[in-house]
Amino acid sequence: MKKKFAVLGDPIDHSWSPIIQKLFAEQFNLSFEYEKIKVVKGSLGNSINELISKSFSGCNITVPLKQEAYELSIENKWTISKRAFNAKAVNTLCFSKDNFLADNTDGVGLFRDLNRHGLSKTKDAKVLIIGAGGAVRGILPMFSKDKFLNVSIVNRSDRNLQLLSKVFKSDLFEYIKIDNFYAKYPNSVDIEFPCPMFDLIINATSASVSGDEIKISKSIFLECPLIVDLFYSSAPTAFMDFALNSGGLKVIDGLGMLVEQAAESFHIWTENRPSVDEVISNVRFLMSK
Ligand code: ATR
Repeated sequence: MKKKFAVLGDPIDHSWSPIIQKLFAEQFNLSFEYEKIKVVKGSLGNSINELISKSFSGCNITVPLKQEAYELSIENKWTISKRAFNAKAVNTLCFSKDNFLADNTDGVGLFRDLNRHGLSKTKDAKVLIIGAGGAVRGILPMFSKDKFLNVSIVNRSDRNLQLLSKVFKSDLFEYIKIDNFYAKYPNSVDIEFPCPMFDLIINATSASVSGDEIKISKSIFLECPLIVDLFYSSAPTAFMDFALNSGGLKVIDGLGMLVEQAAESFHIWTENRPSVDEVISNVRFLMSK
């Protein structure tokens, strides 16, 4: 029988998840249906009940519903994975007969992609995360003390920064407002002896979605070996151009992470581990058309 899955979010038209999941299913000759469904904030519970009544086997949850999915999982006493529990956000649900599983594959997806792009030794890496919204919650639990020692999180406004710092209390994390950060790292750089201030910079804001610029010091990108914009599109984002023009050594978008987190969801649902590289190339090609 054909297994049915879906991705729920708002907006959802742009989602590449159905194409990615179908490419995975083809690798294993699985009979697989995957659709995208627009679900507005506050109505996730009803939508999930509808999926269950229609015999769906699971779903992905995307912006802006990941926290709502977590709250529903708690309310309904579904099994919550450690990584979803730590993130207080859910992006994957698996509806099996006896129990439902709520998981979050964003963090592991990001790390698998960072490894692909050469990030190996992390213990001494200085990491800068820009943003303090939903996307950051998904990835922050992966920055644990056994892997990292130095993680700064900067954000434009105080509100989200405060909220985040309450959920993720750790002496590993430094929370700082973007204006204060600018004062700490102004645009002046030692051009003669440049040395990277950060080993990894992650843009986890929604600025690339809206096409807005981020007012952040240019100097932080100089010689930075790896910079990631979690957003993806057919062309490099304004943030990616800015980072490269400011002296970043390698700048990547979020497509690799997207495919990796999707592969982890696929594994949860089917117990098969798909090959990711060919799917990234296929989607990149389809995006360029
Ligand atoms: P998401 O779920 O995609 O993370 P979100 O929860 O609405 O979306 O969070 C958006 C994040 O991007 C926030 O950290 C936001 O900063 P504020 O907390 O100050 O609103 C950040 N953001 C959006 N546009 C930005 C911009 N132009 N410059 C800097 N930060 C921006």
